[in-house]
Amino acid sequence: MRDKARAQGRRVVLGITGGIAAYKTPELVRRLRTAGAVVRAVLSQSATRFVAPGALAAVGAELVDDEDRGMPHIDLARWADIVLIAPATAHLLARLAMGAADDLLTTLCLATEAPLCVAPAMNRVMWEHPATRANHAQLLERGVLFVGPGAGPQACGENGPGRMSEPLEIAAFLERFWGETGALRDIPALVTAGPTYEALDPARGFTNRSSGKMGYAVAAALAEQGAQVVLVSGPTALAAPPGVHRILVTSAIEMREAVRAHREGLRLFVGAAAVADYRPETMAPQKLKKQADTLTVTFVRNPDILAEVAQWQPRPFTVGFAAETEALEDHARAKLEKKGLDLIVANPVGEPGAGFGTDQNRVTVINKDRTVAWAAAAKTEIARQLVREIIKRLPRN
Ligand code: PMT
Repeated sequence: MRDKARAQGRRVVLGITGGIAAYKTPELVRRLRTAGAVVRAVLSQSATRFVAPGALAAVGAELVDDEDRGMPHIDLARWADIVLIAPATAHLLARLAMGAADDLLTTLCLATEAPLCVAPAMNRVMWEHPATRANHAQLLERGVLFVGPGAGPQACGENGPGRMSEPLEIAAFLERFWGETGALRDIPALVTAGPTYEALDPARGFTNRSSGKMGYAVAAALAEQGAQVVLVSGPTALAAPPGVHRILVTSAIEMREAVRAHREGLRLFVGAAAVADYRPETMAPQKLKKQADTLTVTFVRNPDILAEVAQWQPRPFTVGFAAETEALEDHARAKLEKKGLDLIVANPVGEPGAGFGTDQNRVTVINKDRTVAWAAAAKTEIARQLVREIIKRLPRN
């Protein structure tokens, strides 16, 4: 680690589980310690078959176990700047995915608000097994950071993906993560997410299939970088990400009011919500009764929140999303230009693995000079990548 300052004083909880690669963890501790991090190590029962606690202590790790007084899982969960698990076995990934809390390591993973980073290590067939694939996808969706695994000869004699990343690579990954973390420190940002619900009568209304996952992932990724994030969310089943101030709204009109209320000093606006373009002209005060064979509803235009924000003076750096079922780039570019945006993220809706409701997305990012299609990835990863793009472009005030 060349840049000492990035790791300097960082508090790392290193979880070690029972894989052969555990023998490399003293080297990992040594690298982290040399770079200035403080390391507390938590070993699973089986990890001690592959690495001696004494070897970890000798290179400067403080060992913590269940026997320690008080509530070590809560103390460690609060203390950690990051929880790093290396090696992370297939069994550990499965337990994290199901939310198990049956030992100190898994319990502290549930109790912490710090980022969780895992370095998987296992036989290649185990890594490629559908159960592990599903656990991997679920953990990515929750925002867990993965470093590796690499591919190559394995301790079991096979060759393929599943090797734990080398200590040098893991340390470099954290260096990059810490280098980026804080790039938006204290920058006021607002994200809209989820659908809007436009009432027709007290029992019924019009909405769309947005789950909020994309917008919530953007809010979480901005908070990870230190931004002061307000998340204005339509109705969703999601919990507010840690460190984000959420305001729940129902209709487009309410969403617009909540956005306007945060105009002062706003530096960044990301419109990921699927805002209804129209609402019923009137909301019936009582539940509508079945009468004629047909029902005609008159809709009126909703305000375009994103276009309004882009007109503010001074205006925040303004990022929109475009949900398209055809001519993705052309339609998205037209929205970028018409609404006067800095960046637009176009995603196809109506195809598997992208758009509404999915954990994954496939996006094309467009600004006035460039159009770049990104590889499909978990929404949490797309969000982090988008935040990196924003960091590059955000005007420094
Ligand atoms: O929520 P998920 O299930 O994770 O799905 C994610 C998503 C598909 C909803 C998201 O990735 C996305 O594409 N969001 C924008 C959906 C949309 O409404 O697209 P649009 O092309 O109709 O609108 C373009 C932009 O204008 C969007 O930034 C939208 O927030 C904004 N807009 C639209 C209409 C309106 N009245 N006010 C707005 O602010």
